[in-house]
Formats: sequence, C-alpha cells, structure tokens
Amino acid sequence: MGAGIAQVVAASQRRVSLHDAQPGATDRALETMRKSLGRLEEKGGPPAEDVLARIEPVGDFLPADLMIEAVVEDADVKEEIFRRADAALPPDAVFASNTSSIPIGSLAAATGRPDKVIGMHFFNPVPVLKLVEVVRAVQTSDETAAAIVALAEDLGKVPAEARDFPGFVSNRILMPFLNEAAYTLMEGVAEPEAIDTIAKLGFAHPMGPLALADLIGLDTCVAIMEVLHEGLGDPKYAPCPLLRQYVTAGRLGRKSGRGFYEYS
Ligand code: CAA
Repeated sequence: MGAGIAQVVAASQRRVSLHDAQPGATDRALETMRKSLGRLEEKGGPPAEDVLARIEPVGDFLPADLMIEAVVEDADVKEEIFRRADAALPPDAVFASNTSSIPIGSLAAATGRPDKVIGMHFFNPVPVLKLVEVVRAVQTSDETAAAIVALAEDLGKVPAEARDFPGFVSNRILMPFLNEAAYTLMEGVAEPEAIDTIAKLGFAHPMGPLALADLIGLDTCVAIMEVLHEGLGDPKYAPCPLLRQYVTAGRLGRKSGRGFYEYS
C-alpha cells in the first residue's frame, strides 16, 4: 500500500521520499507504480515519468511536512518508527499511519507530538479506491484532523472520519465478513468460487470475500481479527482457524502467489 500512497501523493504535485527497511522494496514499489501510472496515463492521467520523478527512494528519514507510515500491522514496529521519526522530523510535521487497526492513540503516545498524530487509512488498490478513513485519537488536535481531511480531498479522495476504536469503522465491518467467508469454506458449505460468486452477484460486490482477503493479505486479515478480538473482547472476532492455517503455511494471498486462490 505504501507504493500506492506514494503514487497518489506524487500525482498531486507533491514531492515524496520513499523509505523501506527491506532491501529492494523501494525498487519493487517503483515498478508497481510505473505499471499503475501507465494504466492511468492511457486513460488521460498525468505522464507516468513526471509523477515518478517526484518520488525519491531514501535510506533514512528526511525532513518533511508529513510522514505517512504503511509498514506491517505490528504495534511494536510501528511505535518504533514513530519514535525514530519524532527525533528526525521537524517538530511541526504531522505523522499519519495507514494502519488498518492498530490504535492511533498508542502511536501518538510514542511521540512528543501526540496532537499531530492521526490515522490516514487508504484502501487497496490505493490509486483506484476513493476512500480515506481519517482516524482521530483522543490526542489528535482539530487542526491536524482538518489538515488531513483537506489533504485527502486534494489527493482526489473522499475522507470519512472515525474515532480510534478497534478496527475503526471499515475493518469492524469488513473483517468479520471475510472471516465468516473463511468459516463457510472451512465447514464445507461451498467451494471458494461459489462463495465469491454469491457475494459478487448477490450483493453486487466488485469481488468476493475470499478474493478480497487474498488481495488484502491473509496475514493482515488475521492480524486485524486479533486486534478486534483483543480490543473488543468478544469471541465472535476470533480469527477463523483456516485463515491461521494458511498463514502458517505461507499462503498469504496474492503477495505470496497463493491464498484461497493461486496467482501466476
Ligand atoms: N492502478 C491503476 N488502475 C488500476 C489498478 C491500479 N493498481 N487496479 C485496477 N485498476 C483499474 C483498471 O485498469 C480498470 O480500469 P478500466 O475500468 O478503465 O479498464 C479498473 O481499475 C478496474 O480494474 P479491472 O478491470 O482489472 O478489474 P475490476 O473491475 O475487478 O476492478 C478492483 C478491480 C478495483 C480491485 C475491484 O475489484 C475492487 O474495487 N475490488 C474491491 C477492492 C476492495 O474492497 N478494497 C478494499 C480492501 S480493504 C483495504 O484495503 C484496507 C484494509 O484495511 C484491509
């Protein structure tokens, strides 16, 4: 998702520094962006190379007005990044997290600027889907929220505000749906194709829940269900054992080539 976010920010004429701890990740991100921008250019979007020219892969944090973090759904990893960014970025810079479920309040508490920390939750594929869920922690100031709402609009997105409760709004609703689809498969109620066809044609969803779980990443789905389960304390949010089994086996969805479906 970091690639998609960098792409839409650069497409809005802003300069972007792109950082990833994993060697080679920024090169892969640039390749993903090149493909996506090529598709958009064919439909009248800005020239791909102009957008890419505004994105600079960097080896560490550089001064910036805004950081948008989009790393793995692990609270410790995210908090460490917020601590490091706090030391490296100017004191008036805003820190946004693309987290799907980690409490924004705990990220805010890891910094000396809790009023400038907020959730800016994009949706996959970021260049296509319009929504940005703007998540306010109790510490987030009105000024920070207004700035991020205005930014989302300037990126061509539609912001919707939510408060900092487990799963916010989007994943509180979406993840139990995907989890239940996994239970339906595990219990042999139907084959994957039938489950997805029922959701696609019966509810006019653009893709079925199993294909969507593969797109999001089954490891991410399990991580979000765990946050809902722990944060809300209701057993109905426990991750489906089949999801866990696939994750343990390395079947993470599209990104690993196999999840509920196989991808070439
Ligand atoms: N970059 C640029 N353009 C893209 C693109 C990308 N990455 N992906 C798709 N497109 C374009 C295609 O070129 C195509 O354009 P045209 O209509 O002009 O030809 C259009 O989008 C539709 O794509 P496809 O024809 O390939 O396939 P589709 O009609 O099935 O659409 C989809 C693909 C946009 C992914 C659609 O299936 C969809 O919206 N699915 C649901 C996605 C969803 O629910 N996302 C939210 C996940 S939850 C999340 O992200 C957050 C979380 O916290 C877990």
